[in-house]
Amino acid sequence: MLTETVSTVDPAFTISNYAVTDADLPEFRDMKFENINELHIDHPGANDMEYRARRDYIASLSKSFRETGVITDVDYSPREQRVWRYVAEELEDLHQKYASPFYLKAKKDLGITTERIPQLSEMNRRLKELTGFRLAPIEGLVETRGFLSWLSYRVMLSTQYIRHHSQPAYTPEPDIVHESIGHIPMFTNPNFADFSQFIGHGARIASDKQLEELGRLYWFTVEFGMVEHEGDIKAYGAGLLSSFGELEHAFGDEVIRKPFDLEEVINTDYSYSDMQPVLFVVPSYAELKEQTRKYIESFGK
Ligand SMILES: [Fe+2]
Repeated sequence: MLTETVSTVDPAFTISNYAVTDADLPEFRDMKFENINELHIDHPGANDMEYRARRDYIASLSKSFRETGVITDVDYSPREQRVWRYVAEELEDLHQKYASPFYLKAKKDLGITTERIPQLSEMNRRLKELTGFRLAPIEGLVETRGFLSWLSYRVMLSTQYIRHHSQPAYTPEPDIVHESIGHIPMFTNPNFADFSQFIGHGARIASDKQLEELGRLYWFTVEFGMVEHEGDIKAYGAGLLSSFGELEHAFGDEVIRKPFDLEEVINTDYSYSDMQPVLFVVPSYAELKEQTRKYIESFGK
């Protein structure tokens, strides 16, 4: 017996750039994450009760943001400001040598200086004018799908506390140095902002396998990306730009710097804890955006 079948052809999934208004945003209070705000045993501040209390207090401001939608500026202490100045000044010299020119200009445009820790609220005002991106405070590292999905609304979740003063060159978790010296300037680039949003779209519909691939794409671009510039190679990834060790290592002889190939990137494993042996160089942010668009569009087919 023949059964009647109805064949439907789903329209191909396509993505386009779009502006996100306040009305499009999901409620921040609905963010659900597991194991947020854990401070691990190997954190340099793990046994410093005063540091832990301070970190918990700043984390509580992020929690209250989720209820109110209003960012509370942090009244950073003189010691926290000293940590910032030390790291920011050391990195500034390396940035002049290794950072992408776009990044250098963006850092200035956002008012990020070596003098004092910038507030998310002030960077938000400028980002909104430039690319419509925004920062939302978060109290720690969150799981991949939840974190990346917010990019689809042009939102980056960002910590506000700062690393422990005993090891200013190192942090095992994101902190305000990693966010504002590493990540935030690049969101003023329209192509990079769109590319980030496409990753966010992908995260919302990805299978578990695709999510793993997206994690690799994010790692080798947003965290450890390099870009061609006038026949030279420059860094734009946050993991490079916010770490003296990683940045110098990235330009050293032990690292293989390959032309960006999306298929290869999404199949390349990485380690959180070791220096990166292989890095990928994009020809331009526009090219990165277009290759990512095609890749994400393939999720819906
Ligand atoms: Fe990061």
